[in-house]
Amino acid sequence: MEHDWRALNRANWEERTGVHLGPGGYDLSSHRAGRGALDAIVEAELGPVEGLRVLHLQCHIGHDSIALAQRGAAEVVGVDFSPAAIAAARSLADEVGAANARFVEAEVYGAPEALAGEAAAFDLVFTTWGTIGWLPDITRWAAVVAHFLKPGGSLYFADGHPAALVFDDAVPGTTPALPGPLVPYFERAPRLFDDPTDYADPDARLANSRTVSWLHPIGDVLAALSAAGLRLDWLHEHPAVTWQMFRSLVPREGGLWTWPAEQWLPLALSLQATRPE
Ligand SMILES: C[S@@+](CC[C@H](N)C(=O)[O-])C[C@H]1O[C@@H](n2cnc3c(N)ncnc32)[C@H](O)[C@@H]1O
Repeated sequence: MEHDWRALNRANWEERTGVHLGPGGYDLSSHRAGRGALDAIVEAELGPVEGLRVLHLQCHIGHDSIALAQRGAAEVVGVDFSPAAIAAARSLADEVGAANARFVEAEVYGAPEALAGEAAAFDLVFTTWGTIGWLPDITRWAAVVAHFLKPGGSLYFADGHPAALVFDDAVPGTTPALPGPLVPYFERAPRLFDDPTDYADPDARLANSRTVSWLHPIGDVLAALSAAGLRLDWLHEHPAVTWQMFRSLVPREGGLWTWPAEQWLPLALSLQATRPE
C-alpha cells in the first residue's frame, strides 16, 4: 500500500518539534551561554568552521546550525521541511543573537529551487544524525549536496550505521535487551512504522506516530556520492551514536551512547567527501 511519506513524516516532525522544545527535549543551555555543544564525534572530526559558508540540510530546530554559527562560520543556512522546526530555529537564533544563521523551509529535494542562486555557494554541507533515512532516493540526495558545494568544498555526514539500523529491541526477555532483526539490510523498499515514542523525551507519546523511512546500505551511499562527482576523503565507523538506539546501550561522555561491554556492531558512520577543484 502506498503512503504519502512526505505528509506522514512532516506531521510526525511537526509534533516532535513541540516535544523537543519542551522540558524533556533538547538541551539548549550551551547555546544560550554562547557556544552550543556538538556531540563528541562531530566535535572530533569536523574541523574549524571559521569563515565558512555552511549549508545544514535537515537542520531541525537549529541545534547544530546555531552551534556552527557560534563557532565563527561566516553564514549557516539551515534547511528543513517542518515549519515548526524552522520557526523554532529562527526564534533560537534571535534569542542567542546568531545573526549569521538563517533558516529556510524546504524539502531536501526542493532545496536547489528554494535556494535559487546558491549553486556552488557553500564551503561545507553538514548533515548529521537522523537524516537520509527520511529520504527515498539517495542518488538524488547526493546530487543536491554536490549542487550546493563550491569546488573544493566538502560534505560532512554522520548518522546511524546502516548495519545497526537493521536491528531493533525486538528480542523480548533478554537481559540486557539485545537487538533483534527489524529491516533486512538490502531492502530498499520504504518501511512504514507506527511508533509513538521519541528519541529525546522518553515520556513523550506522539499522536502522529506513523512514519515512512528507508535503510540505505553503505555501498549505495558511496555510489551516490561518487555519481554526484564527490570524492571520498575518509569514512569512519563508531561503536557509539548520539541517541539510545537500543535499550542495552549506556550513556558515555560527549552526548554519546555505546555498548556496555562487547562492541557487537558499529553504531554510527561518518564521512567526508569533497567536490574536486
Ligand atoms: C533527526 S532530525 C535531524 C537533525 C539533527 N540531527 C538534530 O537532531 O537536530 C531530522 C530532521 O529532518 C527533517 N526532515 C525529514 N524529512 C525531510 C525532508 N524530506 N526534507 C527536509 N527535511 C526533512 C525533519 O523535519 C527533522 O527536523
